[in-house]
Amino acid sequence: MSDHEDAMDVDPPAGGNNSILFSAESSKGKRSTAANLPVEAEDSLPWVEKYRPVSLDDVSGHQDILATINKFVDSNRLPHLLLYGPPGTGKTSTILALARRIYGAANVRQMVLELNASDDRGIDVVREQIKTFASTKQIFAKSTPFGQAAAGGAGGAGAGAGSREGSSLATFKLIILDEADAMTNTAQMALRRIMEKYTSNTRFCIIANYAHKLSPALLSRCTRFRFSPLKEADIRVLVNRVIDEESVQIMPAAADALVTLSRGDMRRALNVLQACHASSTPLPEKGAPPPKPDDPPVVREMITTETIYNCIAAPPPDAIREILQTLLTTTDVASCLNTINSLKVARGLALADIITALSEEIVKVEVSAKVMVAWLSGLADIEHRVASGAGEMVQTGALVGVIRSGCEMMNA
Ligand SMILES: Nc1ncnc2c1ncn2[C@@H]1O[C@H](COP(=O)(O)OP(=O)(O)O)[C@@H](O)[C@H]1O
Ligand SMILES: [Mg+2]
Repeated sequence: MSDHEDAMDVDPPAGGNNSILFSAESSKGKRSTAANLPVEAEDSLPWVEKYRPVSLDDVSGHQDILATINKFVDSNRLPHLLLYGPPGTGKTSTILALARRIYGAANVRQMVLELNASDDRGIDVVREQIKTFASTKQIFAKSTPFGQAAAGGAGGAGAGAGSREGSSLATFKLIILDEADAMTNTAQMALRRIMEKYTSNTRFCIIANYAHKLSPALLSRCTRFRFSPLKEADIRVLVNRVIDEESVQIMPAAADALVTLSRGDMRRALNVLQACHASSTPLPEKGAPPPKPDDPPVVREMITTETIYNCIAAPPPDAIREILQTLLTTTDVASCLNTINSLKVARGLALADIITALSEEIVKVEVSAKVMVAWLSGLADIEHRVASGAGEMVQTGALVGVIRSGCEMMNA
């Protein structure tokens, strides 16, 4: 399917009227948009958009969820959906790909209403816009002559695929409420009745980061899918593909670090990779002619683990090991504090980052449960104080205090 759609996407829009651009996708800048831009513009497109999954098959991870959703669609029994989970795990991408699968790229525009957090979604919108969209019957459901006309004869294969899928499945419209946890409470309340009233011809898909921020009444009307943080293997698949296609110069160890540090957030992985890639590319000289395809390839610096750590602003592991070693072995508290402070300055580390990294390292130290508990709860307290605005200097002192008093406990 993705082949068909790709074929269609790159076709020039008929009569200069870009028929595939519909509000949801134009704002997302997915590939169809990119394909219509000049080459330089596509080059400057953020990779998260350039590599946004086009079909459901392109979504990595979440096999169970995708299998279930596919079954719903195949049997034409799509319930109201709720997709929730941390950012960058593919919720928006999944639902946009699903919409394309159900209606075909050409029909998505008439059949899908996407409302994002950036749109006003107060009670008025729910009452007016959603209601109007949900209550109008779709005219193009069964056969899709308009769908093909709208595609402007864009590629026989693409339009064919669109109409085939559109005809079998598009008996309902889809309303996507992205980032629904930002909707006002009253708007959520107003949705309840609308969802029930128009179930015969509409399905809602609610996307949120936190399920608990949604009204329980909405939750009970939806089939819930939790998008867990992506596994490292899933992130690696796309990261490797991007490294390949963009010919990113990166050391294998740096790619490992990138995958680990992005902690299940694919968007973060791609953004960091792009930032590092950009900084490893030498700037063209002023007034130099634009690069031609047959120019020799640009020589880029190798991206190292250090570049990645710098870009994510995570303290490098050797700095953390050094800090931990100092804390555990220096009995003189004042000189311990001095060493830590100068390390912080020399390596440019922030206390909040040190604490996060340190808490991962410190659990590996073999000590009695009592000491470990004191350390961990002490770190948690400091983290809280730093997050609520306490000063670095004093809290660095507190850090030394917590670790050292644990060490004293051991010796006592
Ligand atoms: N499961 C995934 N498979 C492939 N790419 C993904 C996945 N999750 C996220 N991405 C990448 O990250 C970007 C943001 O994903 P998105 O679906 O908008 O995340 P969410 O809506 O969950 O915050 C996408 O453009 C895509 O490039
Ligand atoms: Mg999203």
